[in-house]
Amino acid sequence: MRILSGIQPSGALHLGNYFGMMLPAIELQQRGEALYFIADYHSMTSLTDAGQRRKNTFDVALDFLACGLDPARSIFFKQSDVPEVTELTWLLSTVTPMGLLERCHSYKDKKAKLAGDDLDRVNHGLFAYPVLMAADILIYDSNIVPVGQDQKQHVEVTRDVAIKFNNTYGETFVVPEPQIRGEVAKVPGLDGEKMSKSYGNTIEIFGDEKVLRKKIMGIVMDSRTPAEPKPDADKNLAIQLLKLVAPADVAADYEARLRAGGLGYGDLKKKLFECYWDYFAEARRRRAELVANPEQVRAILQQGADKARAIASVVLKRARRACGID
Ligand code: ADP
Ligand code: TRP
Repeated sequence: MRILSGIQPSGALHLGNYFGMMLPAIELQQRGEALYFIADYHSMTSLTDAGQRRKNTFDVALDFLACGLDPARSIFFKQSDVPEVTELTWLLSTVTPMGLLERCHSYKDKKAKLAGDDLDRVNHGLFAYPVLMAADILIYDSNIVPVGQDQKQHVEVTRDVAIKFNNTYGETFVVPEPQIRGEVAKVPGLDGEKMSKSYGNTIEIFGDEKVLRKKIMGIVMDSRTPAEPKPDADKNLAIQLLKLVAPADVAADYEARLRAGGLGYGDLKKKLFECYWDYFAEARRRRAELVANPEQVRAILQQGADKARAIASVVLKRARRACGID
């Protein structure tokens, strides 16, 4: 079984990225041949600062390795180190109906957001992005694609495009399945909405302790007094986040105390910060080691690229032959 996923280097990684995508990806390393990549081509649809892209790409490599991606088990690489994927994007684009892309929520949302201020930023790459993503997935004969809920539609587009190509040119591609983790399909951010870089409501995985403590202590709660029982304790944002980062019995205890009354929001947030900081202690230590050894990180990405490219070139050749370009 081949497992594949990617993540864009568009900013510091946060708990939504971690629980929605990275952790499932890391756990899946045990279950098959895993390929994980940093989607730097994709980041060009929104980020236009070359230096920032270079930095973010390296930071994602550090973060992912620190969080437990094991280069001995997985193939870890930079998307752009396998340029074959851009050629496959073209082949796929010729069997991709416009209507399929026009229906993509992610495109519609980004377009709506940009429409007010800068329509020129609604570029063709933003529109064609799911085709590049389909090429990413299909070029490695991937079976399983672990992603957060927001990427499910893009994996469905990939399936449609693979089927269309297979029907047009004969059996060429493996049709992949998305894998969405139900319980953390949508990690809430500081404001209770979906945690996302674009909403400015993130809790980063790594960063300055003081800044992060302040973010967590600044979560706005309602005005009920500590003594009041809170029958809706399970809906409380700090409880929801605590369930992700605390041992199960600790989270259950805090939830019960909040429900019964007597637990103040300040104490709850303090506990949340403490558990979150502990949860990533080991990863922080590993990250510091990697920061001190950048050459090691570059070598890991290079080895990953070589392995990924060997797979990709075989599949691209198969696709070229199928459509009479050989
Ligand atoms: P952002 O919304 O911060 O820009 P991305 O769109 O780059 O994040 O998402 C990268 C990966 O992390 C995707 O697989 C996505 O599904 C997952 N992800 C992002 N935010 C969340 C969240 N709040 N909950 C669960 N998964 C998430
Ligand atoms: N589009 C994904 C995101 O923004 C990243 C990505 C690119 C991806 N190519 C992929 C994810 C292929 C899974 C498979 O999060």
